[in-house]
Amino acid sequence: MVAWADRIRPAWDKTQSGAPVFFHRKVWEWIYILEALHGRGLLHEDSRGLGFGVGTDPLAAVFASFGCDLVATDLAAEDSGAGHWSDSGQHAATLGHLNQDGICEESVMERHVAFRPADMRQIPADLDDFDFTWSACAFEHLGSLAAGAAFILNQMECLRPGGVAVHTTEFNVSSNGATLGAGDTVLYRRRDIERLVRTLQQLGHRVEVDFSSGDSPADLHVDAPPWPGPHLKIRLDRFVTTSMALIIEKSAAPASPSWRPTAGWRTRAAGQRLRFSTVPRVRGVASRLRHWRDGGTGHEDPVPSCPC
Ligand SMILES: C[S@@+](CC[C@H](N)C(=O)[O-])C[C@H]1O[C@@H](n2cnc3c(N)ncnc32)[C@H](O)[C@@H]1O
Repeated sequence: MVAWADRIRPAWDKTQSGAPVFFHRKVWEWIYILEALHGRGLLHEDSRGLGFGVGTDPLAAVFASFGCDLVATDLAAEDSGAGHWSDSGQHAATLGHLNQDGICEESVMERHVAFRPADMRQIPADLDDFDFTWSACAFEHLGSLAAGAAFILNQMECLRPGGVAVHTTEFNVSSNGATLGAGDTVLYRRRDIERLVRTLQQLGHRVEVDFSSGDSPADLHVDAPPWPGPHLKIRLDRFVTTSMALIIEKSAAPASPSWRPTAGWRTRAAGQRLRFSTVPRVRGVASRLRHWRDGGTGHEDPVPSCPC
């Protein structure tokens, strides 16, 4: 882990101070994704990866330095939602943004990485047959619990059979009841993740998920403004939240034709690809999406900005 942290050091130790590894959620997410894909033998020439909501994270630069061919995507700069992220230095609009810390040689980036705008709520159909997909700290920012869950299900269509998806998100440590179910940042509860995992398993995919939240002093500290750290758990609204990751291995065979989606999700007529079920976009199913829209609790609290 320390080796990965050092490899991406320019992204978190901007002044190159040589400081010891920093207990920060974001650094944990990046390292987790790197290790998950490296450990599964997916970081090599001939491996194709697809990133979502990449912002200025260092992952595309590291993957490219292994020789992977990548399509790295982020919300289009002209999308009204992108301004917030570019103001906080977390949005990519060009290839240059993906290597701003100089982790990969520029010529290697140019050879191996294509940047294109893509909305995670409407994944372009031509993005398919990848060996791996990834996102860090992104699918909780799609407006609702349902939109993030729909993204996870839909992006499986971008993988070849046996391909691997690794996505990190925001996890509500303090509540499996009330949560932030809609707004700029949503907090997934254990029951939301379990529901998503069940659906993925019904589709024949293998899912690894770990709910243990650690018991070291850094794990037990809950950070709050002015953020003295450690920054693994933070207070957000009235909840304690942290990062969690999903590793999903795509089924080698298509899902059984007898499979039917969980109430609230609909498949495209011809196949298994799930449609996005965001409340504003899909008319007529809003009432069936109630569980996701408000977390089943009536809470739809918006939060002002990303804490990560
Ligand atoms: C918190 S930032 C994370 C950026 C980067 N992955 C990181 O780890 O630093 C959230 C990212 O999600 C992107 N994003 C938000 N909504 C999106 C959408 N609907 N489609 C695609 N990307 C989106 C933002 O533009 C931003 O790049």
